[in-house]
Formats: sequence, C-alpha cells, structure tokens
Amino acid sequence: MKTLVEFINEKQADFAYASGEFTRLLNDIGIAAKLVNREINKAGLADINGYFGQQNIQGEDQKKLDVFANDCFLAAMRHGGMVCAVASEENDDLYTYENAFSQEGKYVVAMDPLDGSSNIEVNVPIGTIFSIYRRISESGPGTVQDLLQPGVKQIAAGYVIYGTSTILVYSTGYGVNGFTLDPSVGLFFLSHPEMKIPDGGNIYSINEANYIYFHEGVKQYIKYCQQDDPATLRPYTTRYIGSLVADFHRNLIMGGIYIYPGTKKNPNGKLRLLYECNPIAFLAEQAGGKASTGYERILDIQPTELHQRAPFFVGSKAMVEKAEEMMRLYSE
Ligand code: AHG
Ligand code: MN
Ligand code: MN
Repeated sequence: MKTLVEFINEKQADFAYASGEFTRLLNDIGIAAKLVNREINKAGLADINGYFGQQNIQGEDQKKLDVFANDCFLAAMRHGGMVCAVASEENDDLYTYENAFSQEGKYVVAMDPLDGSSNIEVNVPIGTIFSIYRRISESGPGTVQDLLQPGVKQIAAGYVIYGTSTILVYSTGYGVNGFTLDPSVGLFFLSHPEMKIPDGGNIYSINEANYIYFHEGVKQYIKYCQQDDPATLRPYTTRYIGSLVADFHRNLIMGGIYIYPGTKKNPNGKLRLLYECNPIAFLAEQAGGKASTGYERILDIQPTELHQRAPFFVGSKAMVEKAEEMMRLYSE
C-alpha cells in the first residue's frame, strides 16, 4: 500500500527540478482535495447546495461549492508558500498572494476548482483540475505573463474526480498515476499505476444537442462513429456526463474520445485553455493519447488571455487522429 505522499517523495528524484518545495505543493493540493471531498459528500445534507449569488467572468452563476472549492485550494497553496499566483475559473483576475513568503514561491498554478458544477445537485461525478508551471518572473507577486505559457511548459498537471470513489490523477511528465482516497483513514493510495489510454476505443463523448452548430468535419466524424463496421468496433457508443473530468477519466481507462468543438456561435468552443484543456491534454499525452483543437496540438498554443477558450478533441490517439482527418477533409 503506497500513499500519495510516499509516492511523491519517492519520485522526486525523477526530474531535474526536483525539490522538496514541489513535493509539498502536490501534497497541499491533495489536502485541499480531501477538504473539498468532505464537503461534496455532505452536499445534500448541509446548506452547501445551490447558488452563491454571483457570476464569474464567463457570466456563469457561481455555485456555493464552486466558491468553497476555490477558497480551499487557494488557502492550501497559501500556507505552503510555493505558489506566487493562481489563475482560477472563479477569479476574474490573476490571484496573487500578499504574504512575502508566497511571493518568493517558484510556481504558478491554473485551476478549475470545481469542474462539472451543473452536476452538483444530482449526485453525478464532479472534479478539480490543476496545472503547474514554473514562474517566469524573478520574484514578487506573480504576473499574468507567468501564466501565459504554452501547455508544453507545464511541469505537472492533474485532476481529482469526486465519483463513486475519489481519485487523484497526476503527472509530472513521467507517466500518469492515479490514487484512490480511502476515506476511513483519509489517505490517497496508489491504485492506478502508470495509466495508459488504449490507442483506440469505442466511446465518443460530445454534447450532440449542439449538432446543428457543428463544423461539417465534426458532423462527419459523428456519422463515422455511428456507421456499422464491427471490425473497427463501430457503431461506437455515446457516453456524455457533462463533467469534463469524469468524461475524460472514463475514456482514459476504457479508450474513447471527448470532443467540445468550436461551433458557428462559439468558434473556440466552451472549455478554457489554461485550466481545462492544457492540464487534460498534458495527461492525455503522458498516457499515450492525443489532444488537439481539431487542427493543432493543444499544448503548443501560445495563450494570450487567462480565460481564453479552445476547441478540444482529446483521448485515444487513433480516434483523435481520425477526427482530425475529418476536420481537414471537410474544411469550411
Ligand atoms: P465548469 O463546471 O467548470 O464550468 O465546466 C463545465 C464544462 C465541462 O466540465 C463539461 O464537459 C462541459 O462544461 C459541459 O458543457 P455542456 O453543458 O455545454 O455540454
Ligand atoms: Mn470546468
Ligand atoms: Mn468549474
């Protein structure tokens, strides 16, 4: 039985930037995840369901749990002093720490503190997504530029899925590992070592209600998924939860593709590059999969804004490549 903390300590020597600080940061993320998990588990009992009464910068109504999770992760990273700035879905501007200790922190974090928040009330899996970079600025409060680095520069990324069990999955660029929370002892144990996404699969995950707004390439890919061809496991099957973390986690284990494409109304789709697409893309590639806008690698995009969006195709390599082929063939 190996705990998350034991595993992190053991793996520290694996990478060049290994430091006790980085290890503590990952550990702090694990602590915040446990606090959020505790709150989520009693969401239906305590007065924590429902709306907070404000909107975030994307004009989405914040739920109380969105705000709670944001506060929890921000607080956990303050105490360690390793992080100087955080870009969060729930903060319009870059969040910087006021204490001198944190301002010397070497890292910056982008996070979606609660992913899939429309699913809170209905007991469907939700998650947290995080992405870690080395800062570019020398010292002082972190800057927006510190966060506007392409995804290839991530030194770690991961998510927590609060599902039938709570699992933390992360990568520091040396493969992907998953840890399941044992709530009776409050520890994450290594349960999914060296996760690899099957190269092909038979699950496609897309909100098909937006079909009429899709690019012709996406429509043709959906048609392809629905054709009868037992040799390639088609017709595929559709699974769409509406929590990126949960949809990706399932496809990572079973093999599949998740698509949130650009539409005629929203050419860049819905998902945010810094704290949804990039960390999930990093994990997908580390597990042997692929992540793309339909045309180019997600991790190569040079961000220009904290909350910018990107079309997102992620999952099994062969499936993403097939979808890309359709996007090229039916370019509009
Ligand atoms: P969030 O709850 O952090 O705003 O993210 C919701 C995202 C993502 O998790 C999910 O896959 C997608 O929105 C669902 O969008 P649709 O309801 O448009 O399908
Ligand atoms: Mn989200
Ligand atoms: Mn969110």
